[in-house]
Amino acid sequence: MEKAPLERMESVLEDRDRIGVPDAILLEDYLSETAFIDNLKKRYNENIIYTYIGHVLVSVNPYKDLGLYTDKLLEKYRNVNFYEVPPHVFAITENAYRSMTSEVTDHCILISGESGAGKTEASKQVLRFLAATSLHRREMDRVRDRLLQSNPLLEAFGNAKTNRNDNSSRFGKYMDIEFNFRGDPVGGHVLNYLLEKSRVVHQEKGERNFHVFYQLLAGAPDDLLKKLHLQRDPNQYHFLKQPENPDMPLSSFDQGQSCNVNSINDRVDFGAVDHALDTLEFKTEEQEAVWCVVAAILHIGNINFYGDDDGHAQIKNDEEVKHASSLFGCDSKALAKALTHRTIEARGERVTSPLTPDQAVYARDALAKSVYERVFNWLVNRLNMSLDSVEKGRKTLLGILDIYGFEIFNKNGFEQFCINYCNEKLQQVFIELTLKSEQEEYRKEGIEWEQISYFDNKIICDLVEEKHKGIISLLDEECLRPGEATDMTFLSKMNSHLSKHDHYFSYDTSSNNKVKKTINKDEFRLRHYAGDVAYRVQGFLDKNNDLLFRDLKEAMVQSSNMIVRVAFPKEELMGKKRPETAGTQFKNSLANLMVILMSKEPSYIRCIKPNDEKRSYCFDTERVGHQVKYLGLMENLRVRRAGFAYRRKYEIFLARYKSLCPATWPNYRGNPKDGVRAIVQHLNYHPDDYRLGETKLFIRLPKTLFYTEDKFQARKQELATMIQAKWKAVMYRRRYLKMREAVTNITKHWRRVKAQRECARRKWAVGIVRAFVKGFITRNEPVNPINARFQQLVKCEFLLRLAKVLPQNLLDTSWPVAPSSCKEASPVIYGLHRTYLARKYVKALTPEKRSMFEEKVLAEQLFKGKKSSYPETLPNWFVTSRLNTAEESLRKTAFEESIKMAGEKTKYSTPCTKYDRHGYKPRERLLILTSGALYLLEAKENKLKQKHRFSLKEIQGLHVSPNNDNLLLIQIPVENAKKDKSEGKDTNPKGDLILNVPNVTETVTKIITVSDNSEVLKIADTDCIGHTMKNGKQGTIMLDTGAMTVINKNKEGKLLVVAGPGQ
Ligand SMILES: Nc1ncnc2c1ncn2[C@@H]1O[C@H](COP(=O)(O)OP(=O)(O)OP(=O)(O)O)[C@@H](O)[C@H]1O
Ligand SMILES: [Mg+2]
Repeated sequence: MEKAPLERMESVLEDRDRIGVPDAILLEDYLSETAFIDNLKKRYNENIIYTYIGHVLVSVNPYKDLGLYTDKLLEKYRNVNFYEVPPHVFAITENAYRSMTSEVTDHCILISGESGAGKTEASKQVLRFLAATSLHRREMDRVRDRLLQSNPLLEAFGNAKTNRNDNSSRFGKYMDIEFNFRGDPVGGHVLNYLLEKSRVVHQEKGERNFHVFYQLLAGAPDDLLKKLHLQRDPNQYHFLKQPENPDMPLSSFDQGQSCNVNSINDRVDFGAVDHALDTLEFKTEEQEAVWCVVAAILHIGNINFYGDDDGHAQIKNDEEVKHASSLFGCDSKALAKALTHRTIEARGERVTSPLTPDQAVYARDALAKSVYERVFNWLVNRLNMSLDSVEKGRKTLLGILDIYGFEIFNKNGFEQFCINYCNEKLQQVFIELTLKSEQEEYRKEGIEWEQISYFDNKIICDLVEEKHKGIISLLDEECLRPGEATDMTFLSKMNSHLSKHDHYFSYDTSSNNKVKKTINKDEFRLRHYAGDVAYRVQGFLDKNNDLLFRDLKEAMVQSSNMIVRVAFPKEELMGKKRPETAGTQFKNSLANLMVILMSKEPSYIRCIKPNDEKRSYCFDTERVGHQVKYLGLMENLRVRRAGFAYRRKYEIFLARYKSLCPATWPNYRGNPKDGVRAIVQHLNYHPDDYRLGETKLFIRLPKTLFYTEDKFQARKQELATMIQAKWKAVMYRRRYLKMREAVTNITKHWRRVKAQRECARRKWAVGIVRAFVKGFITRNEPVNPINARFQQLVKCEFLLRLAKVLPQNLLDTSWPVAPSSCKEASPVIYGLHRTYLARKYVKALTPEKRSMFEEKVLAEQLFKGKKSSYPETLPNWFVTSRLNTAEESLRKTAFEESIKMAGEKTKYSTPCTKYDRHGYKPRERLLILTSGALYLLEAKENKLKQKHRFSLKEIQGLHVSPNNDNLLLIQIPVENAKKDKSEGKDTNPKGDLILNVPNVTETVTKIITVSDNSEVLKIADTDCIGHTMKNGKQGTIMLDTGAMTVINKNKEGKLLVVAGPGQ
């Protein structure tokens, strides 16, 4: 049930070994009570409390909340077919409601079972389901609330804690719910049966009075209690806790003593009753009147009596009488008198006689019972006024009967007799209606009628109710007849009238000794359809008479309490006719009920109590067995199974079992009946095992259905694999398609994004290119917004290019061609770069190198453009010595050590050729320049000989030719020659020195550097150079150019220097 609450009923058949069958008509051995109970037990152990017998719902009380009545489940059971869902009270109700609305017929749901079996709980769920059918319109909510609120009110006044049930209904209840043409509940009406009023004055040990007394004491506000002169403690009240009192035999029974019950919260329940009274729109004064009567009954219970000297009853506690009378609104003296006296009218005369204390207690209790019963009836009537529908027009009815089930105790009294009689009547209705409906179904379906044998309990009903002959008539007669009638005289009367009856037994009438032994002398036994029950006759007459002394009635009639006034009408006193006895009243009300029920389509809920301890998960097989018997469930089953065990609409059968026949699988398009025919023929059903009706298939034996079901289970495995494979394929394909779609989507979007980016890039590029082109076109214009960027670029590009090709040394003068926009900047940069290179170069120079450079610079100044051999000297550095190794070593030794003057430093040395001034004879000499003088030396035989020395200051001129020769004429003053002579070195002045120096520009530059006098250099600008010769004579040196360098004396005796074309 919990596992799959809404699976088709057939679907649980596969598990039938474990959880039993949902419908007992499917039991193989349907005659076996054991099999039936075993099925209930299996289900109960699996928390499945509901089982069908056809359309009868069997419910086993779980004594535990199984979550069976949630709103969700309630909604799920709405609008579904009876057999499509597991058995449930909602399913029964939905079925009744559906057929009521669709067929526009009245229906009723009969709920029976023994005390504590769950009738009231079931009836509440039925009512809940029906009340919830209303569409939520405001006035419907009002009706729904009222219908639902009738329960707490009736339960407060009509229910009590008993040893069998903490909330036992002590009255029978039939409630009609009225529906309008739309199917909305619009009103209701309650009928009540046989309230157990004796409970007001007496309860068995462990039991309580009606809930309302305790609720009032626990829940009423203090001011209300004060007004009612009540105290909170229930033990203060005799009817709630009867003190043991040997003086009062009637109250010397076991006490109730069970004011507090764990499962009951009286204070909270009072709130619920209060709320119900408001919802049902009881006026304030009506509510007050109700509480006054309840309180008055408690006060009445506390009135005690004692016997005076004459043995007449006197009231011990007047204040209780005062309280009671004030609450009733009657005269306290009149009430006191009525409680202690009895007036009898005989032949027109009224005789008042005092009562004994025992009689007074009896009268007191009778008053309490009577008042309570009448107040209860008033409440039901008032409730009916509240539930009365205001809607006019046609209405359909759905009745709920929550009435006591068959009762068998160790000692059974008048109440059990009435209750069991009631159950006989209900069984009668059941059999008649079930058979009728069975027959009706066969007729509708066009199936030949199969005779069903069953036990007709009419004979028992007649035994009880037949006019003049029945037990109730005999009892009435005994009550009415003059003379000493007692319970035992009533028994002998029955014995004499009923001894022949097959269902009546008593000690006296029984001829069988065995039977005799089992019956007491004060008992009679009836053989009910559900079993034998022995009744003790004690109290039958008294309870049937149900007398309230006239004096008390009169006192009550005077009451100003609005309820009591209505409950005890004046007319009652007027009528001379004796009121109907309790038995007859009950018989008549039952007859009435039967009329009501017979006019309606019935549904049944049979409640079973699984154990006596109110325990969950405890299934007492024996206990259940008794109830199965008393409820006549086996009889139910037999009647139902007399024909066919299983019947189902073709569509439903086809839908489930179509896979078993190739002709109907996977879909059958034709008429469902033909489809079902094809299935049953394919399965080889025996022709006797089934019938094809108009709309339904009828299967005679469960085993045929099970065979079909088992085949279906096997087939299901095959199908499951097939479906699984197909389903997987579908799922994977769906997944694949979904993925493919997703991929396309993603690609599409990605492509779009890419295209957008590309487009933007191109747009940007176009802009750039366009700007570039425009810039290019206008590149030569002055900078303007159009070409500014281009120009910038060109400059950038030029600079970048320049950076790569910058000359790395000073000699490299290459320089890229600058674009027009850099024309101005380029030379500046060039200059800067040259400066930078020069500066770098200069910075890297050593002092030696520097001086070498200075010499070179000096040489440039002296010779550039003036002497043809100068360019040749450019590539090479000037050196300090041009001597060979031998000459050099001589210089180092001889010259440095002996010839050189002290303080001088050698600056330059070179070999040279000296030409005599006269005759121009060439002589090889070494020329050495020091810081102070110029030496001309002769190297001969490894010796050095100074030929000339003159101070640098003395040099008057250094003559060279502009040509490519090495001629050097050193002009010395004549005095110098004399000085030479005086010094003894050369006495014969020879005039200027004519030399051929291999590196003449080098030599000259060195001399000028050391002498720091560039004035002395003279480069000839004619083709001859004059010179002073020996003895002051002037000579001329002729200069010329030729094919090769030659120096010699020409024919004129002059020195001819012919310069070659250079090296
Ligand atoms: N379907 C149910 N689920 C859970 N508990 C239940 C159910 N039916 C009954 N009971 C329990 O059993 C108790 C007795 O049930 P209920 O009052 O309906 O019995 P009853 O047949 O009306 O007895 P009585 O004839 O004494 O009125 C309830 O108070 C509740 O605790
Ligand atoms: Mg009940």
